[in-house]
Amino acid sequence: MTKTVTVAGASGLVGSNIVKEALERGYHVNGTLRDASDESKTKWLMALPGAADRLTLFSAETTDSASFDAALQGADAVFIACFPPIYKATDGTPAKELDRARGYAEIVAPVRDGCLNVLAAAERARVKNVMLCSSTSSTNPPEGVAVKTETNAVSDAEFQMSEGKFTSAEKIVMETAARDFCVRHDMRLAILLPTMMLGPVILPQHLEGDSAGFVTSAVRDGKTRHDKVPAGSMSVSHVGDVAKLFLAAYESGARGRFFAVYDSVPWRDLYAELGKHVPREIMPAPLEGEPEEPTRFDFTRRDSLGVAMRDIHSVIAETCDWLKSKPFG
Ligand SMILES: NC(=O)c1ccc[n+]([C@@H]2O[C@H](COP(=O)([O-])OP(=O)(O)OC[C@H]3O[C@@H](n4cnc5c(N)ncnc54)[C@H](OP(=O)(O)O)[C@@H]3O)[C@@H](O)[C@H]2O)c1
Repeated sequence: MTKTVTVAGASGLVGSNIVKEALERGYHVNGTLRDASDESKTKWLMALPGAADRLTLFSAETTDSASFDAALQGADAVFIACFPPIYKATDGTPAKELDRARGYAEIVAPVRDGCLNVLAAAERARVKNVMLCSSTSSTNPPEGVAVKTETNAVSDAEFQMSEGKFTSAEKIVMETAARDFCVRHDMRLAILLPTMMLGPVILPQHLEGDSAGFVTSAVRDGKTRHDKVPAGSMSVSHVGDVAKLFLAAYESGARGRFFAVYDSVPWRDLYAELGKHVPREIMPAPLEGEPEEPTRFDFTRRDSLGVAMRDIHSVIAETCDWLKSKPFG
């Protein structure tokens, strides 16, 4: 019998790509978003190949565990991608300006509690396989490491909060709470760690997001994100490859953390690739001198999932060509 999987956050950048990949592999998919009657989102998901027969969308809100019950009924796995970073407190104060108490209460705790709500619903539905989307913002230990592995690159939440990085701390706190819950309830947990994701998107709304913005702003709006090429680097991947990593983690029975990045690439090199596809006059001023050393990763665990990650040259070329084709009219 065809298995059913649930994607919490099906209308998101990551979630919609997991839905697409799961449909392509023949699964029945139950997807959640906050308002399943919002056609400005659902029509793009329902247009995916296989969706008409095998995708069902549900309304669910992470503050309400029971709202996930229907979407998890009969599912073999849940993919959790419904915790986009929180950058502001409820009154609009930027996260980095909050003190410890407010930062914890308004940025960190809601993500932890929301994730536990989804997991509690999964546990009630006897779903044993959990694939959680986190972020490389949970991979920055205070002392730094020469080469990051999924086991040595673990952020310290208290240290991050002491520096006002509540939006980063929310991820490691979420991961820790999810791991403890899954151990207690004998559920298998794999955690995927992406950063910037490029490639075609499924909903036009995602063109406005941080990830797509690097290419969208240049190709569509004729301006680049930076006035001057930064000296630093950025970890990047193709969002379709990230989705494949999620499905591979599910199908292989993998446990634990996995980087979901192709590599960390100097901005200088990212702009050099972008510059092949956009007018020279919109490019940022060049970097003077050499870029800083990019983050180094050991990809042994990622590669154990068997997904061939597309390189930056291909990813940026594909994204630019796709955007120039005006995919949403
Ligand atoms: N995008 C990036 O650049 C990036 C980089 C690194 C890591 N990540 C990680 O990837 C994960 C997914 O991010 P994303 O970029 O895919 O996010 P996204 O595009 O903003 O989508 C978020 C998804 O979660 C749902 N959602 C949001 N708030 C919710 C709530 N209170 N209750 C229930 N559902 C809710 C959204 O539904 P609605 O349609 O109803 O809003 C949507 O389906 C996050 O853990 C994020 O940290 C993303």
